[in-house]
Amino acid sequence: MAIIVKDSVFTIHTKQSTYQMKVDEQKTLLHTYYGPRADETDFSYLIGFLDRGFCGNVPGTERERVYSLDYLPQEYSTEGSGDYRISALRAQLGSGACDCRLVFDSYRILSEKYYLAGLPAAFDTANEKVQTLEIVLKDVQEAFYVHLLYGVFEEHDVITRAVRIENRMEHSAELLKVMSFGIDFAHSGYDLLHFHGKHMGERQLERGRLMHGITELRSTRGASSHQKNPFVILAEEETTERQGLCYGFALLYSGGFRLQAEVDPFDQTRLVMGLDDEDFRWVLPPKESFIAPETVMCCSSEGLSGLSHALHDTVMEHIIRSPWKSKRRPILVNSWEAAHFDFDRKKILAIAAEAADLGLDMLVLDDGWFGRRDSDDSGLGDWFVNEKKLGGTLKGLVEEIHGMGLSFGLWVEPEMVSEDSDLYRAHPDWAMTIPGREPIRGRQQLVLDMGRDDVIEYLYGRLSDIIDSADIDYIKWDMNRSLAAGYSARLPKERQGEVRHRFVLGVYRLLELLLQSHPGLLIEGCSGGGGRYDMGMLYYCPQIWCSDNTDAIERLRIQYGTSFGYPLSTISAHVSTSPNHQNGRTTPFKTRGICAMQGTFGYELDLSKLAPEEKEQAAEQIRFYKEHYELFQFGRYYRLSSPFARGNYTAWEFADAEKREAIVSVVFTDLHANPKTDIVFLCGLQNDRRYRMYLDGQMQGTYTGAALMNAGIRLPIPKENYDAYQFYLKEEV
Ligand code: DGJ
Repeated sequence: MAIIVKDSVFTIHTKQSTYQMKVDEQKTLLHTYYGPRADETDFSYLIGFLDRGFCGNVPGTERERVYSLDYLPQEYSTEGSGDYRISALRAQLGSGACDCRLVFDSYRILSEKYYLAGLPAAFDTANEKVQTLEIVLKDVQEAFYVHLLYGVFEEHDVITRAVRIENRMEHSAELLKVMSFGIDFAHSGYDLLHFHGKHMGERQLERGRLMHGITELRSTRGASSHQKNPFVILAEEETTERQGLCYGFALLYSGGFRLQAEVDPFDQTRLVMGLDDEDFRWVLPPKESFIAPETVMCCSSEGLSGLSHALHDTVMEHIIRSPWKSKRRPILVNSWEAAHFDFDRKKILAIAAEAADLGLDMLVLDDGWFGRRDSDDSGLGDWFVNEKKLGGTLKGLVEEIHGMGLSFGLWVEPEMVSEDSDLYRAHPDWAMTIPGREPIRGRQQLVLDMGRDDVIEYLYGRLSDIIDSADIDYIKWDMNRSLAAGYSARLPKERQGEVRHRFVLGVYRLLELLLQSHPGLLIEGCSGGGGRYDMGMLYYCPQIWCSDNTDAIERLRIQYGTSFGYPLSTISAHVSTSPNHQNGRTTPFKTRGICAMQGTFGYELDLSKLAPEEKEQAAEQIRFYKEHYELFQFGRYYRLSSPFARGNYTAWEFADAEKREAIVSVVFTDLHANPKTDIVFLCGLQNDRRYRMYLDGQMQGTYTGAALMNAGIRLPIPKENYDAYQFYLKEEV
């Protein structure tokens, strides 16, 4: 039994973790424990009741002077309740003040995973049934209900959480902050690991001790953003890759978000995370509900690797819906860095012919195929094929490419509109611009009001027409600016605070409509690279263009950071030209291939311009990737070294679940005369098995798993700048 309820104590067990709450004499839902698997002991014995001074006291208890929500660990804290810490909920129920205090109302246990209408959520499968615990809290006075939802993925040590707010009052409520979860730990001293970044430099790992006061990570951009990622880790000081306690928290949401962590004066730690509330004000009329997006929580006692593995499995099995997650993804060539807007039929066919020759699977035609789109300041919104540029119909082009044995993919950016477009001229009110004010532009484009039904209908009609008319196999779904004003011409003044969330709901709706009508369509997410790399998007897209930075060496850090929360098969990674377009760095072709094999592999250059020796290398890369496809896509991933650490190499490994084979990749980022010996310790093998070790195809010897994991392997000496190697290990039978 995963959920046990006894004497007002709710205990949730996963295989290796336990989560507990308790309803106390004030009917407050306390949070009493989250950590390594324990039992059903009532952990509220850990709470000390003292008169703390200047802490609000809740009336109606014999121990009123020592009973304060300001230090009690709570499951879902509210502002205005005498708790001065960060809150999960800020709501106005009628007085105009934040007047909500929640008490326990009821609960139920379901034998299936709850479902969230209009939002992505982890799902159960025939193989893994998931229980739901629903705890209903109610305002102490008003008919205002908060449903706390818990989904228990026992096998993966994952508990999901979501919140549904229900207004049963006679009048509207105003929601000003609705976090998806809150959690209180009895201790402080935790490290927060988070993934900050920028366009072309996403998900850079940073680790630091949480100090007294509030630490905040936030995107106010209307997208999960390049700058911050809605995934964080809380770890004990001693926790390393291979050992120690840590917790992961990921939001399944693609809009702006807010994470706050607070260490209070009594050395307790509180975390809340949910949709961004900077510009948020949701009017909730009587009889209506509001749903806050889902969070995935995971607890691992096996270090950061253990946490990543549990999350990778959860995402693959319970978050990505696409049938492509378990199919071979096409090795593709994308036209962007090959041609940008400057292409014609001849150029595209030349790249396709080379791709077919080299053994690639797909050609993707990036930006520039529609409307009047020869630069990035016009055409968005006019989703009609530019037949003049394509030298004929899209259908004709696709047939020719299919005829070469390649599938075909197309770039789109549905959420945007150029002022220089027929769509904008016809429907200026479809853009999110404030009447009478100059709009804030980004990449010379405006954002469509995706909360409007007519916008969604137009986009769905255009996109499905194009997909159907030309038998399109894949779509790259881009989004190239952040939201500025959240304004909708459709909503009254007092409801403009809803626009940004309605935008995200509209994006999800459009994705849902397209996938319902085209279930086999492979959608690759993208937002100027990895500006919307979150579990919400992965619900719809099994892979995401990881960054617009295609430099192999900078990608080491970007892909490393991404791997903490997201499976490697979701990372779309391509070999691009050298010197690199983004930073001018020169790297060997081989190194670029090895780095791109860290994810879903492809090319991003003009294949028809490759030198003969590069063609040979490309053909070999494709052969190798195809031969070991299962390992790359489904293997256990191990970070063997950190690109952020001082050292002259970065190494990683894929090992199969049966421990029969593994691939170890090493990229050197520095060169030294008279170099030291570098030894790397492998993972995921079996101590008493013997493995043949090949270095770039050359047999090196046979070693036991114990030797390879405990004594390690010696790395070769790099022969040139940014040299790279691949070891392949195969069990000797
Ligand atoms: C940003 C993407 O990340 C690029 O790969 C490319 O598709 C451009 N947009 C096209 O405008």
